[in-house]
Amino acid sequence: MNTIIKKVQEDRCTSEDFEIASEILKKGGLVAFPTETVYGLGANGLDEEASKKIYAAKGRPSDNPLILHVADIEALKVLAVDIKDSAYELAKHFWPGPLTMIFKKSAIVPYGTTGGLDTVAIRMPQNKIAKELIHQSGLYIAAPSANSSGRPSPTMASHVEEDLTGKIDMILDGGKVSLGLESTIIDMTGDYPIILRPGFITKDMMEKVVGRVEYDPAILSTEKNEVIKPKAPGMKYKHYAPVGDLTIYEGPMAHVVLEINKRAKEDMKKGLKVGIIATQETKAQYEATYVKTIGTRKNEKTIAGSLYAILREFDDLKVDTIYSESFGTDELGQAIMNRLIKAAGYQIVKVD
Ligand code: TXA
Ligand code: MG
Repeated sequence: MNTIIKKVQEDRCTSEDFEIASEILKKGGLVAFPTETVYGLGANGLDEEASKKIYAAKGRPSDNPLILHVADIEALKVLAVDIKDSAYELAKHFWPGPLTMIFKKSAIVPYGTTGGLDTVAIRMPQNKIAKELIHQSGLYIAAPSANSSGRPSPTMASHVEEDLTGKIDMILDGGKVSLGLESTIIDMTGDYPIILRPGFITKDMMEKVVGRVEYDPAILSTEKNEVIKPKAPGMKYKHYAPVGDLTIYEGPMAHVVLEINKRAKEDMKKGLKVGIIATQETKAQYEATYVKTIGTRKNEKTIAGSLYAILREFDDLKVDTIYSESFGTDELGQAIMNRLIKAAGYQIVKVD
């Protein structure tokens, strides 16, 4: 399959490229597009055959449901049933934006889109290119992250190209995404919202709007734990794993730096290629084959925005081992650590 790649701009969403993309979607094809979180791989969410193509292109297990992307709050009534007032409150505050809500699905949503579940995940994205595509096509667009299953989510069109060229019809290249981590997911089917995947919309932010919000216990564990089964099917798979063996170091920063340098030296003596994930604050203190700056601790958004790209860069460089500092003091830190810990396959070393 020939994949059409077109550059589009958020501030000028009038080009005929959107018409081409809409036609592809309406005919049951696949179009990758930027959202504010990560790039999505879109298809007509009410067309089971189109959804199937998403699973095939990504190599995604068929029990892992897709998120439906909508352009307005009214879409909720079409796609979901038993919607509580608190959901409308959250939608009013955080949509469009990086929040996905899970409801009991309506009859028109096919099981092929929900991985066989009776629930459906819905999100209204903020990115103007995503919005325009939903508007122009007039569809509810099913879209998982536009990576091959198991690779880090794409934060630039080049990441999508790497994974999916030849497997999808079109890529809308809208440059680097603004946030870089996937949306917060909350289950709205119970008495109070439960966070299934942490993200930019934090527990604190939601509690200010609707009162009690809890975490799915599975996402808080920092150990590989088979006992607590996550409620979001996708959270159970080994995710975002870089090719190199990634270990996180946790503890007082000066000791972390010492320890990482020690391990890096040992590895390099053995002839291994070593990558280090450093911050602007510590970069100059490290010695390894490749030292990459993920951002600054003064602004954790910079760290969230670069994590996936750095993991991919280390893949391209074919490093054997990767060492990373740990993050995660506030709530965004928690979203970052949730991804980093999985990428590391739960390998965390605590130093005093
Ligand atoms: O920011 C995002 O959410 C991006 C952009 C493209 O919107 N999308 C994204 O989709 O991250 P994906 O498919 O990579 O991750 C969706 C997660 C998976 O872990 C999936 O299992 C979970 O959402 N999910 C979807 N529908 C669900 C449902 N009905 N019940 C529980 N979990 C669900
Ligand atoms: Mg994904």
